[in-house]
Amino acid sequence: MSGQTIVEVSGLHKAFGELEVLKGIDLHVERGQVVCIIGPSGSGKSTLLRCVNLLEEPQQGKIVVNGSEITDPDVDIDAARTKIGMVFQSFNLFSHLSVLDNLTVAQRKVLKRGKEESERIARENLAKVGLAEKESSLPTQLSGGQQQRVAIARALSMNPDVMLFDEPTSALDPELVGDVLAVMRQLAQEGMTMLVVTHEMQFAREVADTVLFMDGGVVVEQGAPDQVIGDPQEERTKTFLSRVLNPNHQG
Ligand SMILES: Nc1ncnc2c1ncn2[C@@H]1O[C@H](COP(=O)(O)OP(=O)(O)OP(=O)(O)O)[C@@H](O)[C@H]1O
Ligand SMILES: [Mg+2]
Repeated sequence: MSGQTIVEVSGLHKAFGELEVLKGIDLHVERGQVVCIIGPSGSGKSTLLRCVNLLEEPQQGKIVVNGSEITDPDVDIDAARTKIGMVFQSFNLFSHLSVLDNLTVAQRKVLKRGKEESERIARENLAKVGLAEKESSLPTQLSGGQQQRVAIARALSMNPDVMLFDEPTSALDPELVGDVLAVMRQLAQEGMTMLVVTHEMQFAREVADTVLFMDGGVVVEQGAPDQVIGDPQEERTKTFLSRVLNPNHQG
């Protein structure tokens, strides 16, 4: 690990009207690290990722991604965003475009790559997610898990500095979750820098370098997965984990 900072969030505040959603978040991700964010519904996890990708504008605080301050009012948002891959719960593919075209369109329009180069890169990434044979399919002809892997390949085709995942497996049938997690695991092993909001505790435990537990717009606890998931210190973390790890038990 080179120790190079890829994402630095400091003192981040975000409110929607009266509702304070992020109340001073600090976050640090180094090159090649996987940071998993866990926490109850409404705790601000998606809002945090959306701020990092400038889909939301924070009121206060600073976000630096690979050396450029994206919260600087003069930043070129579109340029900054091309370096940040985002994968959502819903796959957000273009339904009228083939898989291959889904992977080339932003490369061509935003990065100005030629047809041949963009298709070569698209095919490399499709192979990486195990979907080389699906390049001519339309998204609707694929399973949810396959669509999500296409979305991951599309993000990778832009050569991002960091990949943000917001509950990428939550919308999937249980039997399709494993394939998507396997792709993410492989990416992590290859050294991709990743910020992952997930309810998959086993994945977080095995793959994350750092786990961050959020509740009520603050980071309640963070550390190595064996610490935060295996031996949580804060009452709120314990309560949350007992709910997600034993969903049939009350309280
Ligand atoms: N655009 C918006 N306008 C108003 N309120 C919003 C907006 N986006 C999010 N919120 C509110 O902010 C709070 C945090 O939402 P957020 O989606 O970040 O939570 P989350 O931790 O991702 O939850 P979940 O696990 O359910 O996805 C919620 O109370 C939500 O209703
Ligand atoms: Mg969310």
